[in-house]
Parts: sequence; C-alpha cells; structure tokens
Amino acid sequence: MLTSLTGEEWRRMRNRLSPAFTANRLKPIVDTINKSAKPWTEYLRATVDKETGEIDMDDAFTRLSLDVIARAVFGVDAGTYQREEPEFITFAKKSRDGLSLKLVLFFLVYRFAPSVAKALKLRLMNMEPIHFFRKVAADVISRRRESGERQKDMLQVLVDLQSETPDQGITEEAIVQSAHLFLLGGFETTARSLSLISYHLACHQDVQDRARQEILKVMSDGISYEHLSELKYLEAVINESFRKTPVGVINERMCTQDCVLSNGVTVDKGTRVQVSLVGLHLDPDHWKDPEQFDPERFLDDKINPFVFSAFGAGPRNCIGQRFAWMELKVTICHLLKEFTLEPGPRTKIPLEFEPSQMITTIKGGTWLRLIPRSS
Ligand code: HEM
Repeated sequence: MLTSLTGEEWRRMRNRLSPAFTANRLKPIVDTINKSAKPWTEYLRATVDKETGEIDMDDAFTRLSLDVIARAVFGVDAGTYQREEPEFITFAKKSRDGLSLKLVLFFLVYRFAPSVAKALKLRLMNMEPIHFFRKVAADVISRRRESGERQKDMLQVLVDLQSETPDQGITEEAIVQSAHLFLLGGFETTARSLSLISYHLACHQDVQDRARQEILKVMSDGISYEHLSELKYLEAVINESFRKTPVGVINERMCTQDCVLSNGVTVDKGTRVQVSLVGLHLDPDHWKDPEQFDPERFLDDKINPFVFSAFGAGPRNCIGQRFAWMELKVTICHLLKEFTLEPGPRTKIPLEFEPSQMITTIKGGTWLRLIPRSS
C-alpha cells in the first residue's frame, strides 16, 4: 500500500495513482458529494436531541464521510444514515482500530524490530475489513463490466485510467486496493476535520454569519464545482481550523542524506524525523496572535507551505487533498444553509482532546446545538 512504501517503489505507485486526482477527473464527484450531503441534513434534523437541540457531530460526520466514500469511491449506497449501524460503518471502524493506542505497540515492534514482527506473524491491519472492502469494490467493477454502466466515482476514474494507460500496469487488484487505501486515508481525517471546523464555526458566530452569506450567494439546491472556487472566505475558515487544530499531529520523514540544519544540528542519513504540526501552526515566530481564531490571516498572508502543513508538504504530501477540499466545502455549504450552529451545554469549551487518538479528536465528542434555519 502507498503509505507503507518507500523509495522507487513508492514513486512508481504514486505516479500511477496521481492522475486519478486531477481537477478534471474529480470534477463530476462534486455531484456525488452533493447527493450525500442533502439527505445527511435531513438525517441531522431527525436526529438532534429534541429538548436540547444538541447532536454529536463526530458521529454525524463519520456517517457523512463514509456515505461520501461509499458513493464517490466505491460506487455504492451504504445506507449510512440508517439508525442501525450498517456493515460499511462497522468495518470502517474496525479498519480504524489500526490507529488506536493499543496498536501503537504493534507499530513500534514493526518499526524497530521488523524481523520479530515477521516471526510472530504480527499484522498491523485487521484483515476482516480489508476483505470486506475489497469484495465491495471487486463486485462493483465486475457488475459494471458486465452491464457497461458508468458512474461518477473514483472506481470509474481508476477503471478508465486502467484502459487509457495499459503500459502503467494498473491491475484489477491494484484498483481494489486503491479504493480501500482511499477509505483508510480519507474517512476519519475528513470526518474529524469537519468536526473541528464546525466547532470553530459554532464558537465564532461572526465568522459563521460571514461564511453563510458567502455560501448563500452562490448555492441553490446544491453547490457546483465552479462555485466552490469562489468561496474564498470559507476556504480561509477551513485553513484557519487546520492551523489551530490540525487533524494529523505529526508529519514524518526519513532523512535520505546527512544534513546540517540552520541551527547547527546534524541529522544523519536514515534518521526518522517527526515534525510537530501543532508546534509549527502555533509558533509565534510565524503567526501573529497564534491562539486567536482569525480566518482573515489566510486572506491576507502568503502562507509558507512548510510552516502551514495540514496536508503535509513536498512530493509525499496528501494525494487526496483535492478530493478532501471538495468534500469539506460541499458539506459545510449544506450544513450552514440548513442550520445555525451554536455551542450547547455539552460543548467542550475550552477545547480538550482525546489523548488515545492519533487523529485530533475532541474529548467526549463534538457536541453542538443545531438550530434549523427553515422549518
Ligand atoms: C481533511 C482530510 C485529510 C487530511 C487532513 C489529510 C492529511 C494527510 C497528511 C498530513 C498526509 C501525510 C502527508 C505528508 O507526510 O507530507 C496524508 C497522506 C495521504 N493521504 Fe490524506 N488527508 C486527508 C484526506 C485524504 C483523502 C480524502 C484521501 C483519499 C481519497 C487521502 C489519501 C492519502 C494518501 C493515500 C496519503 C499517502 C500519500 C503518500 O504516501 O504518497 N487523504 N494525508
């Protein structure tokens, strides 16, 4: 899988997958995301606590983000807005267990004593969800091959790439694996980003009003790909949320040659270097009033990509960031069109984070009050 590869092997795989994430190929997927977001707002209306108006946005965004991945990557309707948890969610949560603290131990054995891990046949990933998701993707591909059906999703993009570039050696197994990789890379990162963005919006009514005004100027039933790029203030709000509360906490690199840093510290070839995103994003040497939530800074400043690094930086940055941006913007458009967000009695102010999670997660859930704007 791409994330575990290094060197030439990684480069080959990355080059093979990158064409799937160009703006042109992703453009039709905005329709698919709109299709997920609309029934999701109805789900929210039906699910908020009738007395307090509160809802745990973590659960709500997890459902939305899996619905988007199910439709936009796997080409299926997974029923994620049903009350009873569908298999798609259960298996996605099982995949996520690979990120929980208890598995950090396995990870350390892998990293520092790979031969021991091999001898003990330790697996970092739980194989059950892998089999489930690969079967979902393989079934859809074979159904489409038989019927000649085409859809606006990533499976279609990958299948098209396979036939357009036969020299790239994109096998059916590689397509199925890639769909699963996009689920792993995209579902929790996007869901927790949305939780944090909505938290900041609820805590800053002036920012929320301004973002909504911008959205309502261009939004009708859904939002089009063309209009997404006009939402400059919303973009600044999302960036400011990423700056204050980055979803990934560290970026990691392996040093491929000896080098001396500007402060005189030598880093030897082969050293793993971990960069703290919180350290960078809240550093007063780089940001004025770093503790303040101020989207304005992203409208004014030229941001250094190595200081602001929510999607990583350099050739190994997030391959799915264009997809993620579309999903974040479309979702917030639907949310702000339908609801006013406010802190409720269970909202964690000041913010506190769940220490056992490797993806930034608010302790006890992201509880907010949602007030329907038209009912
Ligand atoms: C808001 C959502 C997301 C955030 C914050 C995020 C963040 C990141 C970060 C920080 C990295 C490591 C970059 C580096 O080391 O420089 C990464 C890598 C990656 N992401 Fe994302 N990501 C998001 C959504 C997605 C989506 C939607 C997909 C797929 C559809 C995806 C697929 C990947 C993959 C495959 C990699 C590994 C790239 C490689 O090793 O070449 N991500 N992401």
